[in-house]
Amino acid sequence: MPTLLIVHHTPSPNCQAMFEAVVSGATTPEIEGVRVVRRAALSATASDVLEADGYLLGTPANLGYMSGALKHFFDQVYYPCLDETRGRPFGYYVHGGNDVTGAVRAIEALTTGLGWRRATEAVTVTGEPGKGDVQACWELGATVAAGLMAGA
Ligand SMILES: Cc1cc2nc3c(=O)[nH]c(=O)nc-3n(C[C@H](O)[C@H](O)[C@H](O)COP(=O)(O)O)c2cc1C
Repeated sequence: MPTLLIVHHTPSPNCQAMFEAVVSGATTPEIEGVRVVRRAALSATASDVLEADGYLLGTPANLGYMSGALKHFFDQVYYPCLDETRGRPFGYYVHGGNDVTGAVRAIEALTTGLGWRRATEAVTVTGEPGKGDVQACWELGATVAAGLMAGA
């Protein structure tokens, strides 16, 4: 069964709202035959990445970059996964206070280095997520998961 790995750093209620919406989209009953695995960024391993077929990443913007936790994740998995995960689909979301540009740039750079293929637009939110933001997160989760359905 194809596996979708969600790697997230979720330090606040606003980040939690985005994470929950992404999980809800990825696990919607209409998507069948996809196993969804969630890992906090500080606990995700290279084995988790190698065993998955696609990825969803979530982070706050911190000091003009992705969170240290998600950076730690990439530091752990980059070289162990470089050969075997090239071409796999991914999506991501970023939550910030006012400017997520640096975090977006960093995630794009790391995933380009890994050769991952972005399956859909990133979702970026500043401040409290509104209904449309939560819906966009749901669609992000559903889109990446649906792409992993057998025969999709
Ligand atoms: C040390 C620190 C650095 C931060 N740097 C940024 C930043 O560069 N850009 C940004 O948009 N938000 C920044 N933030 C805000 C966080 O992204 C925000 O607190 C996080 O997404 C959680 O959202 P919330 O506080 O609204 O719940 C920073 C927060 C902290 C604590």
